[in-house]
Amino acid sequence: MLGILQLIAGFSAIMSLLFHFHRRRCCRDPLLPDWPLFGMLPPVMKNLWQIHDYATQVLHRNGGTGDFLGPWFTGMNYLATCDPMNVHHMLSKNFANYIKGLEFREIFEAFGDGIFTADSDSWKYHRTLLQSLFKTKSFDMLLEKIVREKVEKSLFPVLDHVERKGIEVDLQDVFNRFNFDIVCSIVLGSDPNCLAVDFPKVACERAFNEAEEFIFYRHTVPKSFWKLQRWLGIGPEKKNAKACEVFDKFLHESIASKREQLNKKDEKENDDLLTCLMREEEGKEHVDDKFLRDTAFNLFVAGRDTITSALTWFFWLVAKHPSVEAKILQEIKQEKEVKSQVYLHAALCEALRLYPPIPFETKQAIKQDMLPSGHEVGPRTKILVSLYTMGRTEETWGKDCLEFKPERWISGKGGIVHIPSYKFISFNAGPRTCLGKDLSFIQMKIVASSILRNYHVHVVEDHPISPTLSIVLLMKYGLKVQITKRGVEEGNS
Ligand code: HEM
Repeated sequence: MLGILQLIAGFSAIMSLLFHFHRRRCCRDPLLPDWPLFGMLPPVMKNLWQIHDYATQVLHRNGGTGDFLGPWFTGMNYLATCDPMNVHHMLSKNFANYIKGLEFREIFEAFGDGIFTADSDSWKYHRTLLQSLFKTKSFDMLLEKIVREKVEKSLFPVLDHVERKGIEVDLQDVFNRFNFDIVCSIVLGSDPNCLAVDFPKVACERAFNEAEEFIFYRHTVPKSFWKLQRWLGIGPEKKNAKACEVFDKFLHESIASKREQLNKKDEKENDDLLTCLMREEEGKEHVDDKFLRDTAFNLFVAGRDTITSALTWFFWLVAKHPSVEAKILQEIKQEKEVKSQVYLHAALCEALRLYPPIPFETKQAIKQDMLPSGHEVGPRTKILVSLYTMGRTEETWGKDCLEFKPERWISGKGGIVHIPSYKFISFNAGPRTCLGKDLSFIQMKIVASSILRNYHVHVVEDHPISPTLSIVLLMKYGLKVQITKRGVEEGNS
């Protein structure tokens, strides 16, 4: 018996050694030391609390591109890059070869078959459809009207309340609630009023938060492990299933009530996206409730946390840079029209560069290819692009790349400097560039200028600032601030 055990142990040791050497041979550009069994995961786990800065260090140390090998037999292997030329190649020049892929769709299960997870013809269909809804003057005007009303009716009363009571408030939570109400108004045509002085607990908003936070978890464990947990209905998978159920119920109820209005033909007044979709696509076979649910869910993801993230980091950076704040105030005193507020636009771009709301993206190759950096890509190779690192690369942004300097965005003629999207990647690049970029700037500029014009935002001293481990770069502990009103002479001239 002992002999057999010894034989098995010896055989396993030899196989492990061979496998280890095989991995080493295949991996031409390792980013980190490759441990037996655990691969390159140990140092990543150790640095999980500062994962984006750590990834930036590692990628820069290795010339911008290299292999990350996960634990054995987990399939968690990636070619990671922050090289703008590689990104340009994958997202534009050889776009057709780099897809989201099946694994992405499995991880982002809650997104259903919406635009974010779709590839090829299905993606083209979604893209054309959403483009036809977004890229109209009337949609811009609708958004502006909804955002301005929300600022007056909810944001100002909440900030006034916080100021009067002299209490601290989590500005990130304020923006999350604000943006949830805005997305509901635009997509579903109803406002759940999550942003109110008593900070109500709104079940669908909480469920949405949980469903979105959860997706990062599936990025960190082997597929077989989360699939087993999902099957058994245990752990984070159980919590996620519950959150999705609550949020889906909310979406399906909205869809049912829209259908009823549409059938009664009393929808003339409604210009929300769901009604527009139903009207435009009426009679088409695939436009069933699942299609509408998936489209609505994807729009919630697109438009909620991204803007919350951008505004939260922006306000933190501005609070830390009083000279930038003074210049923004100077501009908004002289220029009431948000479209003409160039310095504010530059400051938002600068915040988006340093803290891209979507900090990383993954792609999968279909066929063999060679990246401009000289790295070979095999069929099914998974590629991880660090958008966070790309905003902090000296070759692109110069030696002062870690500094918050809106001036770098202002041209000699006083306009915004054009930086190609494969370098300023925060809104993605190529055919899959963010469809909401212009809308986001309208919304962010209205909110930022309305707050800065009327209030002084003081970040609470010693409040810890650290990013969440999530697919969206939020602040782990929120942004605790105190609010004081600006004097009339200071802000409202
Ligand atoms: C600061 C705000 C925003 C940022 C930084 C941002 C960033 C991005 C990024 C990086 C992607 C690519 C994601 C991927 O392919 O994995 C994307 C895609 C997209 N975004 Fe945005 N986004 C923002 C706001 C919005 C808003 C407000 C909307 C719509 C109301 C929107 C609609 C979309 C859509 C529909 C796509 C999918 C495009 C496609 O796959 O063809 N985004 N966005």
